[in-house]
Amino acid sequence: MLTGGGDCPGLNAVIRAVVRCGIDEFGDELVGFRDGWRGVLESSYIDLDIEATRGILPRGGTILGSSRTNPYKRDDGVDLVRKTLADLNIDALIAIGGEDTLGVANKLHQDGVNVIGVPKTIDNDLGATDVTFGFNTALQIATEAIDRLHTTAESHNRILVVEVMGRSAGWIALHSGIAGGADVILIPEIPFDIDEVCRLINRRHDRGRYFSIVVAAEGATPKAGTMEVLTGDLDEFGHPRLGGIGVRLEHEIETRTGYETRATVLGHVQRGGTPTAYDRVLATRLGLAAIRGAHDGAWGMMASLQGNEIKLVTLAEAVAEVRRVPIEEYESLGVLFG
Ligand code: F6P
Repeated sequence: MLTGGGDCPGLNAVIRAVVRCGIDEFGDELVGFRDGWRGVLESSYIDLDIEATRGILPRGGTILGSSRTNPYKRDDGVDLVRKTLADLNIDALIAIGGEDTLGVANKLHQDGVNVIGVPKTIDNDLGATDVTFGFNTALQIATEAIDRLHTTAESHNRILVVEVMGRSAGWIALHSGIAGGADVILIPEIPFDIDEVCRLINRRHDRGRYFSIVVAAEGATPKAGTMEVLTGDLDEFGHPRLGGIGVRLEHEIETRTGYETRATVLGHVQRGGTPTAYDRVLATRLGLAAIRGAHDGAWGMMASLQGNEIKLVTLAEAVAEVRRVPIEEYESLGVLFG
């Protein structure tokens, strides 16, 4: 087993479910690779038994560690993966991750490795599953933060900008913004117009409200040529390090409206700490489906939530494209803004 990519509340619940079911239902021996694909490349692992996974269900993070290492970035990557699995007599690999980790899993499957996937990401942007675990926890954290910012925004008559995670999908921004009663919500799917943002804020002021909450996904971008933005270094999967749109909005909104504006970047707080009950249950169910799928030889498949049922779908389907917020869904909520 391995956990790759950004960590996510609920990873330990998957690990625990796989281990308990693997041992008690099938008599398996299990190991966990350290730090995602790095552990497989370097044959760095720990033995996973009931004792090693005791007490981890409510713990955030991952006891295995994680990284954004990409085996396909090295010429000898696939050979090293094959060698480690052969040396350790490993019959099957369960990869728990998002689009990058599962993208690698899918390629390895095509290269003949016995692999099954479990979807995770707080961004909730993976295809072929209705929800990913971690999203519910991140949503709770972001909503609570917005509630707290509301009271201080009101006390000081300020515009407060909250930057939440969401690189290419705005699920956290949209849902926390709606749950927290935000006045403006900006998501990566729809380039925003800074004039429209300021119009909504000014309209609130004209109606006698002297504070506003703006929720922006970190991947939200202004319409071309309307506002300057910053870009960061790329990781091994080619994603830029984001973070910065909140502060840019703070400056731009204050300059254009004249109202005092402050930004809060929630950052990794959204990924840390104990998973919600919802995420623990979902992660547990997905873990059970993955280990049972492995015993059925369902290689190249991923455990997924479909309605209220857990089913296996192909990894290829899951990583085919990022699951973004539908434009109609965002637009139908627009009446609540401003
Ligand atoms: O895992 C998804 C995510 O949390 C994104 O929302 C965010 O852009 C990214 O990870 C941040 O990654 P890192 O932990 O490398 O800063």
